[in-house]
Amino acid sequence: MCGIVGYIGNKEAYPILIKGLHRLEYRGYDSAGVALVNAEGNINVYKTKGKVDDLESFTKDKDISGTVGIAHTRWATHGEPNDVNAHPHYSQSKSLAIIHNGIIENYAIIKKDLIKRGFEFQSDTDTEVLVQLIEYIKTTNKVDLQRAVQLALTQVIGAYAIAVVEKGNTNQIVAARKASPLVIGVGDGEFFLASDATPIVEYTKKVIYLNDQEVAVITRNEEIHIKTISDVETTPVVKEIEMSLNELERGGFPHFMLKEIYEQPRRIAEAMRGRINVDRNRVSLAGIIDNKEKFINAKRIIIVACGTSWHAGLIGEYLIEEFCRIPVEVEYASEFRYRNPIIHKDDIVIAISQSGETADTLAAIELAKKSGAFVYGICNVVGSSIPRNTDSGTYTHVGPEIGVASTKAFTAQVTVLALMTLTIARLKKTIEDDLYKRLIHELAEIPEKMEKTLATNAKIKQIAPIFTYAKNFIYLGRGYNYPVALEGALKLKEISYIHAEGYPAAEMKHGPIALIDAEMPVVFIAPHKGIYEKTLSNIQEVKARKGRVFSIITQGDREVRKLSDFCISIPETEECFVPLLASIPLQLLAYHIAIAKECNVDQPRNLAKSVTVE
Ligand code: G6P
Repeated sequence: MCGIVGYIGNKEAYPILIKGLHRLEYRGYDSAGVALVNAEGNINVYKTKGKVDDLESFTKDKDISGTVGIAHTRWATHGEPNDVNAHPHYSQSKSLAIIHNGIIENYAIIKKDLIKRGFEFQSDTDTEVLVQLIEYIKTTNKVDLQRAVQLALTQVIGAYAIAVVEKGNTNQIVAARKASPLVIGVGDGEFFLASDATPIVEYTKKVIYLNDQEVAVITRNEEIHIKTISDVETTPVVKEIEMSLNELERGGFPHFMLKEIYEQPRRIAEAMRGRINVDRNRVSLAGIIDNKEKFINAKRIIIVACGTSWHAGLIGEYLIEEFCRIPVEVEYASEFRYRNPIIHKDDIVIAISQSGETADTLAAIELAKKSGAFVYGICNVVGSSIPRNTDSGTYTHVGPEIGVASTKAFTAQVTVLALMTLTIARLKKTIEDDLYKRLIHELAEIPEKMEKTLATNAKIKQIAPIFTYAKNFIYLGRGYNYPVALEGALKLKEISYIHAEGYPAAEMKHGPIALIDAEMPVVFIAPHKGIYEKTLSNIQEVKARKGRVFSIITQGDREVRKLSDFCISIPETEECFVPLLASIPLQLLAYHIAIAKECNVDQPRNLAKSVTVE
């Protein structure tokens, strides 16, 4: 998704802005640009389609001086990805330049009105409409930039994080947000601005998170001043961020995705630390214990999420229903928010999100809160919008995930759901003591078993190139492994661009079986657990039609191995924890197929890490 960087201080802004844009590349984008206010007060805007490297080549012979500047990576919404639609955008007189994340929904009406008043537009973007509106208000009302921004934003419907610089003003950036994150870094005699803390951490740990509808005036050598768009002054709260720069680097791996896959044993152990006691016989999650009456009395749990987080939610449904005996519904946040759902006061809504910024999930939370439900968040990014907008929650605490395809965040979400399940089941007394202890003990063993699972990497790397010919893949699993099949298929399509479908194995007969021939790779998640025999029959059905079977089996299994063309074994574990292990070879399979196809695994085409527009 689009990225924002800004700088004002005593250093040259350009190198800091470019470095910041590189740090935001993981979000996915199609063009990049920068606006610098030079010592004479002139604004120089440079922008280009393509990568940040292309922007750097473009600016080689240009005036890139200035200690104030804003920069942007754009992920196209309105208007195709090209040089003109890239940000920053000038206003008509070129006295203002803006960068913007989000969508201005009523831009067409505003644009029509401004055209009537003589404004001309260079781009197809909603963002240019906003900067023209700010200029129009500023000149007709004769107000300063902050006031003009406030007034313009009262006319706007939609989501935004914006930063504006002004010709002749070498000391100021004005920034504002609504439903799209914006962070101000407070350094020593300098300020940074960014859409997430990633570009800021190497300079300062002190940050101010702007709240919805706040407009900040960032002035050189002065305190930050914040007012709401309706002109109420608010006090900026400076917080410390925990992320270290080291956490953002690749740490010797060729890609962030591979690094993050390999981090899983350590990160999952960290996610459980302090939550499972040292004797491995007790789980307690503060967020649940503090609200235990709500969980004990909940009539229903509704899980809302998008993408990979939604798949984690499905595993949560199996876990919570099996052990806590509370009915669970899992909803795509984007569907839930628009379908007038029935939400009761004694429902608990669990929102799952790696980034904590997904627009649809945030909107689903708002809806749930309005209906009086208790809202619980499972998030990775500390201080992001979802944890700030939920009643309580649990962080997954697996550190920043940079690869666009989610890996460690997924297994961490499943881990937190398992911890929640055990905590609630104990409170509700829906689990036998022996089983409770056995599950905790097994969960605590998972990091070690993940380590063993990672040893399959060499074999998967060897097999993967065989599949580069494939145009389609089918992933099949039953029970807890049905969501794993969905997630495995998603990983493959995200980064290798091979079409892949996940299905509950038994559903194969109701359609996908028609697709199976000698060309079709079929991935089975077939651990020696649960309805193993049934899965075995499904594999036979695929083999009878000459499909190529790649299966994930439990160590020691002979039967599935015999039937499969390719086999990867994972350690034995409790059925409900198999997803934590089985998803690792599937992540690796997608990774190695994508590498064999020479795809950009960390920044797949058209995808964004954090989808802050609906
Ligand atoms: C995007 C990302 C996915 C992610 C989904 C939900 O599509 O590319 O990896 O699963 O958003 O994001 P969230 O941050 O809410 O988990």
